[in-house]
Amino acid sequence: MKASLPSRYACLAGCLLFACISLPFLASHAWLWPFTLICALLSLVGLNDLRQSHHAVRRNYPIVGNIRYLIETIRPEIRQYLLEGDDDKLPFSRAQRSLVYARAKNESAEKAFGTLNDVYRPGFEFISHSMLPADTPDPASFRIAIGGPQCRQPYSASIFNISAMSFGALSANAIAALNQGAKRGRFAHDTGEGSISPYHREHGGDLIWEIGSGYFGCRTAAGRFDPERFAEQARDPQVKMIEIKLSQGAKPGHGGILPGHKVSSEIAATRGVEVGEDCISPAAHSAFRTPVELLQFIAQLRELSGGKPVGFKFCLGHPWEFMGIAKAMLVTGIVPDFIVVDGKEGGTGAAPREFSDNIGVPMREGLMFVHNTLVGLNLRDKVRIGAGGKIVSAFDIASVLAIGADWVNSARGFMFAIGCIQSQSCHTNKCPTGVATQDPLRQRALVVPDKAERVYSFHRNTLHALAEMLAAAGLEHPSQLKPKHLVRRTSASEICLFSQLHVFLKPGELLNGSIDSEFYARMWRMARSDSFEPEPGEAPAIKPVLRHKETTPA
Ligand SMILES: Cc1cc2nc3c(=O)[nH]c(=O)nc-3n(C[C@H](O)[C@H](O)[C@H](O)COP(=O)(O)O)c2cc1C
Ligand code: SF4
Repeated sequence: MKASLPSRYACLAGCLLFACISLPFLASHAWLWPFTLICALLSLVGLNDLRQSHHAVRRNYPIVGNIRYLIETIRPEIRQYLLEGDDDKLPFSRAQRSLVYARAKNESAEKAFGTLNDVYRPGFEFISHSMLPADTPDPASFRIAIGGPQCRQPYSASIFNISAMSFGALSANAIAALNQGAKRGRFAHDTGEGSISPYHREHGGDLIWEIGSGYFGCRTAAGRFDPERFAEQARDPQVKMIEIKLSQGAKPGHGGILPGHKVSSEIAATRGVEVGEDCISPAAHSAFRTPVELLQFIAQLRELSGGKPVGFKFCLGHPWEFMGIAKAMLVTGIVPDFIVVDGKEGGTGAAPREFSDNIGVPMREGLMFVHNTLVGLNLRDKVRIGAGGKIVSAFDIASVLAIGADWVNSARGFMFAIGCIQSQSCHTNKCPTGVATQDPLRQRALVVPDKAERVYSFHRNTLHALAEMLAAAGLEHPSQLKPKHLVRRTSASEICLFSQLHVFLKPGELLNGSIDSEFYARMWRMARSDSFEPEPGEAPAIKPVLRHKETTPA
């Protein structure tokens, strides 16, 4: 212990000594000035290290201890620029990001010399192609009509849209660039739960207005849903659909808070809250407590909006709860126009680590469960399904459409398009690219017309790549993609079609009791329309959870 003392303080002692000894010689030896100054500054740093009480390493190793904190600060950048492999996913690999950057900048995303993927690795996936490729379809036709029989203003949506991200999480310039790009490319921009800001309106791109548990933009002073304020905004022609946010994959069951220091006058006016006060989204909605009440709320919003499509976004949790909503559809006759399934792998501005890592069902399993439930109830043709979770390439889109989605959303894909470099400091207000910050100086770095062009190009080039993939598979429209088109390597010696790998229910199977799948049958028995609680008497253990090994029509 004692032997280590000199080495721990040697740097501080050396600096102090040099600064003191050199002082009398400064007048006669001008060259000493820079060295003396540096040593004097380092001595101050070292003395401050000894004085402070937050960092034990700096107290024990004055001056040198700071190197540890410096390296820790720049570790993500060092890793990203110098050490990261092309396929390391942090959470997006360099290859994925490079693809988005290239498409956003209208550069060639072609690759020479063959794939870098290990195609014999279990988990490797591909779309099977046809002996008879079709003509390349026009990506402009990749649209779907959203709005069931109860909707009076259906929306013709692109199959690739910008996922929910609030003004507050994103900067004003980021929102403006996304919306301008959406306008040019004729696709939809989800507002996120932070409501509709002036930057969403500036360029007039189609909006999906998201209503979270804080009812921002349509709340009373007490934070409850305000029908009049809702109707006022919802009837705006720029708002094409209304999305009730039940949960988000990266933090399901967790509310959110925008700290008071970030609540500027603009954010306060947009959300209908007080400037400088913490802006809280509770974990649960106050407008409904049961599946039936949720559907009644949907019907109310549809009426108040003048008959626009209304649906909800969620990440699957307890399977019987979603089945409860489905039961309530049968009981009330109220059907949402759409459901967006968000995956556990989805992004967020900020979330507790356990929520990001260990709560919520991944997108694919959630999507197949929702799709199957609706098929099993003969409701699938009335409800459109969107899906989101790490979708950035045409293959990502194709694979999600193949297993049950009608359209997809991307959040971080579009963030990359406007310059995000995945530094993962969105929650610090110090975003280096001006995407996720409210600091006016930092966001000035994001030039709206330039980035809007990239948003437009990323969308357009990705759909063009999808069109080429479809043609290779002999298909003419994304809606023709089915589980039999998606293939996965399951072991070193076996590949399976998704139609073999998973259960896909037959139409009406849940209704008529002919269901083969014990898992679906059990969840259906547990589900209640009058409560999110499971039916008493049915044990909530779900051993074979969503791992399907049963029969599968393609
Ligand atoms: C910065 C940021 C802010 C977000 N804000 C919201 C939000 O306000 N409401 C919401 O439903 N989801 C929000 N999300 C989640 C996305 O809408 C989406 O569900 C998820 O990120 C999908 O994953 P992706 O980023 O892989 O596309 C946010 C995501 C990010 C990255
Ligand atoms: S650059 Fe970093 S801080 Fe900015 S949006 Fe991207 S991940 Fe977040």
